[in-house]
Amino acid sequence: MKKLHIVVSPRGERSRSKKLWEYILSKMDWEKETLELNNENIWFLTSSLIAYNYWYAKFEDLTTEEKRIAKLQDKFVKQILSADEIIISSPIWNFSVPAILKAYFDLILKINETVTMKDWALIWLATNVKKAYIVLTKWGYYEWQAWKSIDMIEPLIRQDLAFIWITNLEVINWEWIDRVSDEENLKKFDELKMQIDSKL
Ligand SMILES: Cc1cc2nc3c(=O)[nH]c(=O)nc-3n(C[C@H](O)[C@H](O)[C@H](O)COP(=O)(O)O)c2cc1C
Repeated sequence: MKKLHIVVSPRGERSRSKKLWEYILSKMDWEKETLELNNENIWFLTSSLIAYNYWYAKFEDLTTEEKRIAKLQDKFVKQILSADEIIISSPIWNFSVPAILKAYFDLILKINETVTMKDWALIWLATNVKKAYIVLTKWGYYEWQAWKSIDMIEPLIRQDLAFIWITNLEVINWEWIDRVSDEENLKKFDELKMQIDSKL
């Protein structure tokens, strides 16, 4: 069994989302692979890359940088198609996903590789991923009903993953992380660990 862990925060050792995924990973004795998005020099899709993805441009038509991104895309697609479970750990940024995670989704949601169409019906190809743990850290407290609708990170992740048929999600929210004392954060961390223990 293989687990792919996708790290979104660029903050390395300072990252709080990292603490939670490290705890989840420590519970698993499977083969583990970590993908730190910030170490991959990810680009946004260009006109030529889109053309290449839809077969009206050839690999040779791409610039050197675009060829690098096309190869990176290939690596990401292979990684996701060989994982049994994934963990995405991410902070919320400006009410949504950090742009690097969206750029990653724009690369892995690839026609004919992770999703395809037959007679105008969608066929999803990432059925190998049986479970996704989504670890989200937030300054705000969106559980309050009035704020829930402006928290767009979870719906966006759910929809993009559902598009390639990763639908079995366990979402773990660590909210109000910058608002409370270290002591309260430690208490919250312990609660979340218990929540994780009961789900794994
Ligand atoms: C650029 C930026 C934008 C942020 N936007 C939000 C936001 O919209 N809502 C929120 O609750 N927290 C926001 N935060 C706070 C982070 O979500 C919080 O500090 C984060 O969970 C830390 O995660 P990390 O330690 O794993 O990097 C933002 C932080 C940064 C750096």
